[in-house]
Amino acid sequence: MKSMAVWAGMAAVVMAAGCGKKPEGGAAAPGAAAAPAAAVKTIGMSQCNLGEPWRVQMNADVKAAAEKHPDLKVVFKDAQNDTLKQRAHVEEFVSAGVDLIVISPKEAQPLTEPVAKAFRAGIPVIVLDRAVLGEDYTCFIGADNRKIGRAAGEWVKQALGGKGKVVELKGLMTSTPGQDRHQGFREGLAGSAVEVVFEADMKWLEPEARKEMESALARFDAIDLVYAHNDPGAHGAYLAAKAAGREGVIRFVGIDALPQEGVAYVAQGILAATFEYPTGGREAIEVALKVFAGQPVEKKIVLGSRLFTKDTAASGGTPIP
Ligand code: FRU
Repeated sequence: MKSMAVWAGMAAVVMAAGCGKKPEGGAAAPGAAAAPAAAVKTIGMSQCNLGEPWRVQMNADVKAAAEKHPDLKVVFKDAQNDTLKQRAHVEEFVSAGVDLIVISPKEAQPLTEPVAKAFRAGIPVIVLDRAVLGEDYTCFIGADNRKIGRAAGEWVKQALGGKGKVVELKGLMTSTPGQDRHQGFREGLAGSAVEVVFEADMKWLEPEARKEMESALARFDAIDLVYAHNDPGAHGAYLAAKAAGREGVIRFVGIDALPQEGVAYVAQGILAATFEYPTGGREAIEVALKVFAGQPVEKKIVLGSRLFTKDTAASGGTPIP
């Protein structure tokens, strides 16, 4: 019963992503042979979780791009933040014989093997946002997290006039964006008297960030700024500070900059700054189409980022050089 329900759900998703569009062009000229219908290609999309708005946006970007091509079908699977489940999903896509896999992995190391196996079995694999180890995949698409972290460090350094006490709430440190956003941030702070007095892994989750910030507030009377590796983390920290009556003297900086989330927080004065982290969903479909057309694709596609502050939020932010 359960598996039938799952397959029925998948079929619904497939239909939503693949139907409803007619090929361009009018009726065939009388006597002309009907063009053969293009073979439908199935893409398996493995999303590590759909608990955060940013991931819902990534799937929406994939779906919107795929819908423009009637010969593409996308089957979406949500691993619900469970690495073992996500490994199984990749294996299921291989057994089902999909034409291509898109994966946004929860963690680097444990997803490396199933991705490599799929790739070696001849299925093209596009890795999105969080990386795997090694080279056994077709293409990686994501923004430069180290560069974003460094830009955040430089921004914080300037905002604090070169000195102050900072809390760093890190993304899952077994995922590459967490590692890179941390390293870049520290590089950006280098040469200043800005001190990171408290750091913790909030695993990308707002409730975890709030809990960690409660500990930081209990331990330190002076905190000038919180750098969180994503906007849900920055917002969780803000909520903890607000509950303690200290949100007015602390600045909050995040990453993601979804219009309805981080950018809205900046406009409301909750966050001082957020850095855009594009989902890469549209680009994944562009690459998939190239693969299907037999065209060469780059091994790595690096997406740009933008900074949003109170002054620039309404006008679309400013690019990170
Ligand atoms: C969502 C998320 C984003 C973050 C990205 C990093 O799961 O935590 O907020 O930018 O993943 O991979």
